[in-house]
Amino acid sequence: MAKINGNYLKLKAGYLFPEIGRRVREFAAANPAAKVIRLGIGDVTRPLAPAVLKAFHAAVDDLGTIDQFAGYGPEQGYDWLINTIIEKSYKPLGVSLSTSEMFISDGSKCDCANILDIFALDNIVAIGDPVYPVYNDTNVMIGRTGDSDDKGYYKGIVYLPCNEANGFIPALPTEKVDIIYLCFPNNPTGVVASRAELKKWVDYANANAAVIFYDAAYEAFITDPSIPHSIYEIEGAKKCAIEFRSFSKTAGFTGVRCGLVVVPEEVMGTTESGEKYSFNKLWLRRTTTKFNGASYPVQRAAAAVYSDEGWKQTKEVIDYYMENARIIREGLTEAGVTIFGGVNAPYIWLKTPGGMTSWDFFDKLLNECNVVGTPGSGFGPSGEGYFRLSAFGHRENVIEAVERIKKNLK
Ligand code: MLT
Repeated sequence: MAKINGNYLKLKAGYLFPEIGRRVREFAAANPAAKVIRLGIGDVTRPLAPAVLKAFHAAVDDLGTIDQFAGYGPEQGYDWLINTIIEKSYKPLGVSLSTSEMFISDGSKCDCANILDIFALDNIVAIGDPVYPVYNDTNVMIGRTGDSDDKGYYKGIVYLPCNEANGFIPALPTEKVDIIYLCFPNNPTGVVASRAELKKWVDYANANAAVIFYDAAYEAFITDPSIPHSIYEIEGAKKCAIEFRSFSKTAGFTGVRCGLVVVPEEVMGTTESGEKYSFNKLWLRRTTTKFNGASYPVQRAAAAVYSDEGWKQTKEVIDYYMENARIIREGLTEAGVTIFGGVNAPYIWLKTPGGMTSWDFFDKLLNECNVVGTPGSGFGPSGEGYFRLSAFGHRENVIEAVERIKKNLK
C-alpha cells in the first residue's frame, strides 16, 4: 500500500477557515431564521471594477478569435502585465525591478506555500505568533517540523510572539534563523511596520544571511503615507527579501485568482558545498516546471487594475472597505472594546471582553448576535483572548453587525 505523507498528521486541527465555515453551517442549519452576518474570512464582497471587468470580457472574446487567441503563455506571466505592475506600482515607490524578477501566479496563498520548495529543509524558520496559518501549516506539511506541543507550537519553528506589550510587532529573534516571515499590514492584527522597524529586519537578514518572506497582500490598504508599501523601499532589502503581493483584496480577485512574487536577482542562498546560488533562478526553474501560468483573461483583467480608470475605481472600493473598518473600530470602541488595527488594514483585532477565550467569544457572537468573526487563537497561541473582524462585508451588514454587538455588550 502506498504510504501517506505523515507530516500532514502532525497538523492538529483542520484549516482555520473551513473549520469556522463548518461551525457556521451547523448553526445556520439549526437556526434557519437567523440572519447571519459573516465578518470572518477576509473575503471581498464588492464587484470587480467596471474597467477591470471590461478588460476581462474583452480578453475572453480574444480567445474566440484566430488572431488574438492565446494558448500557453509564459509560465511566469506576460511581460505586459509584469512591466505594468513595475511601472505603476513599484516605480512610484522608488523601487526599480527588472521583468525577470517578477512572477505572476494564481494567488498569494499558493506562492507563500510553494516558495518552500526552493529552500532546504534544514533552514531555521521564524514566524510570528499570531500568524496567517498558511506559513505555519505549510512548514509542517513539507516536513520542517516535529510534533506540536500542548500549546500548539511545532518543534523546529522559532515563534516570535506578537502581543500588546510589543504593539503586535515581533522582536528580532534571539537565535540565528535563516528564513523570516513578515506580513505588513498584518493579517490578523491589522498593524503596520514603520520604515525604521523594517530596516531592523533587513539589517538582521543581511547580517545573518537570512531571507525575509515579505507578505504585502494588504499594502493597498495603507492610509498613512509614512508607511512603506514594499519592503524594497528599505535599503538593502533587494539582497535579502522575497515579496508576495495579491490582487485578491486589492482588486476583488479572491474568486478570480491572481498574485505575484518578486524574487530579486541579488537574493542568494548557498549550495551544499557552500557556493552562492540565486533563488531567482531556482524559482524560475520551479515555476516553469510546476506551473503553466495564470490564465490570459485573468492577467488582462489584472493589468486593467493599473489603468487610470481601473485604479480610480479600484481605489474607491478600497476606500469603501476602509470606511467599514472605521465603522467597526469606532462602534466597538464606543462599546468599550479594546481595538487594534483597522487603520491601515482591513482587519480589526480586538481584545475579547471580560477575558473570554477566543472560541467562547466566537460562540457568543454567533449565538447571541449571529455575527461571525475569527477567533484569535486560530492564528496561534498568542492570539488567545483576541478576535478578528474583517472589514470586507457589505456596508449595511457591517453597520448592523456593529449595532448588534454594541447592544449585546451593553
Ligand atoms: C483571511 O481571512 O485571513 C484570508 O482571507 C485568508 C486568505 O487570504 O487566504
